[in-house]
Amino acid sequence: MDISGIALVTGAGSGIGKACALTYARDGCAGLALLDINQDGLLATKKEIEEKAYTPGGKPLRVETYVLDVADEDQVNQTFDKVVNAFGRVDYVASAAGLAFKHKGGIAYAKTEDWKRVTDVNINGAFFVLRAATKQMLQQECILSVIDGRPLQRGSIVNFGSIQGHIATPLSTSYVASKHAIIGLTKTASEDYAKDGIRINAICPGYTYTPMTLNSPEIQKVMEEKVAVMTPMGRAAMAQEIADGVIYLSGGRSSYVTGTSLFVDGGYMQR
Ligand SMILES: NC(=O)c1ccc[n+]([C@@H]2O[C@H](COP(=O)([O-])OP(=O)(O)OC[C@H]3O[C@@H](n4cnc5c(N)ncnc54)[C@H](O)[C@@H]3O)[C@@H](O)[C@H]2O)c1
Repeated sequence: MDISGIALVTGAGSGIGKACALTYARDGCAGLALLDINQDGLLATKKEIEEKAYTPGGKPLRVETYVLDVADEDQVNQTFDKVVNAFGRVDYVASAAGLAFKHKGGIAYAKTEDWKRVTDVNINGAFFVLRAATKQMLQQECILSVIDGRPLQRGSIVNFGSIQGHIATPLSTSYVASKHAIIGLTKTASEDYAKDGIRINAICPGYTYTPMTLNSPEIQKVMEEKVAVMTPMGRAAMAQEIADGVIYLSGGRSSYVTGTSLFVDGGYMQR
């Protein structure tokens, strides 16, 4: 998939972020930085990758884990410093850390603390990661596509939107608002550095089987209804199917793609 550089994944301890980490490793990245607030999840992902014994460029794949809260800007900046210190550069970022939440009774009863928790992680966290990543990428030499030597691949960042970055479901004040914000953040940031070879896109998954959807009875109920009625393919996605979209947006094959939303949703958005 033309991803010969260093990859960084937030939310790498579970679900889609974990699938992205496994796929960067499988498809040939040169090094992998795994970030999450959950240390056990991170270590499990690292172990699973190391068991595969990948050897990009003839050397064992280096995988490092970093525990952080993406909603804390100092922790994000310090972690990027550590990653650059360890790997020398960051070529691909998958910003998958996120929280979902249903506000019982709707917006009239939404608690400020719940709004703040979700928007802190989903919006501020994505902003802190995007800012640190672009700052680093602007200082890097471009890498060329390993397939056909396409120039100006200084870095690619994939933010995590959702179909709910474009449409809404009830009782989802903070989640829907945060995912809509990600689409705007992605569009404006992509304009800032399009000429510098930094590409910034949003992946917009439909309903996907992960701990986020399966561990919450309310979210799982909505998911099953929406999948049955609204998803032409009639099933939810596997995390691997979303990761494949992220890898496409990361690598040289998407060299002319920036500022866009890639829907991986079983046809949901066309209904
Ligand atoms: N699962 C779906 O149906 C679906 C659909 C559309 C979009 N998404 C988005 O995909 C992304 C990944 O979701 P998932 O389904 O894999 O969820 P998940 O709950 O399985 O994984 C999310 C990961 O983010 C980490 N995380 C949470 N808060 C954090 C913080 N403050 N700092 C660092 N890490 C933190 C968690 O520890 C967890 O490992 C999210 O942004 C989510 O909104 C998911």
